[in-house]
Amino acid sequence: MSYSIFFFFILVLANPSHQAPDLVTTTCDKTLYKDLCKSALATAPKTDVKDVQSLAKFALEMTSLNGGEIHKRITQLLTTNSDEFVKQCLTDCSTVYQDAIDQLNDSMVALDTKAFNDVNTWVSAAMTVAQSCEDGFKGKQGIVSPLTDMNKRFGQLCSVSLAITNQAAKN
Ligand SMILES: *[C@@H]1O[C@H](CO)[C@@H](O)[C@H](O)[C@H]1NC(C)=O
Repeated sequence: MSYSIFFFFILVLANPSHQAPDLVTTTCDKTLYKDLCKSALATAPKTDVKDVQSLAKFALEMTSLNGGEIHKRITQLLTTNSDEFVKQCLTDCSTVYQDAIDQLNDSMVALDTKAFNDVNTWVSAAMTVAQSCEDGFKGKQGIVSPLTDMNKRFGQLCSVSLAITNQAAKN
């Protein structure tokens, strides 16, 4: 009898259908971009999947790294573009992305001290950067932004990070 109870529990534990949805899924389901969130957090080390606050920090780091990649791309584009208008747009984008990266990195530090209001302010500010970079290219007819996809993804990553930090603030 006691053996069958024991094996029953082994079965329950081993069967994934009996497990509650994992923390990444429940956290990402409360963001606007669930799939992007899940793919960004899929690479989180186990130590960061212990609570929402750790996930928030990891999301901020991913967003900051993404901003860094875009910043690099802008630097490349600046060396290959000769159009003065485009170069000015790229220079503006470079400046605002650098600010966004700084704000995201400051947010990671602020998160450690649970300064959630600061985090909210800074990540919200970083989120506007994607749109302001993109809008610059609309100032002249016939110009196509070379950064549309990257801006879109960055804005969505900021939105996801903000949604997760706001969940952490409620915990
Ligand atoms: C910001 O944080 C990212 C991710 O941790 C790091 O790679 C980068 O060097 C930091 N940048 C600055 C300017 O502190």
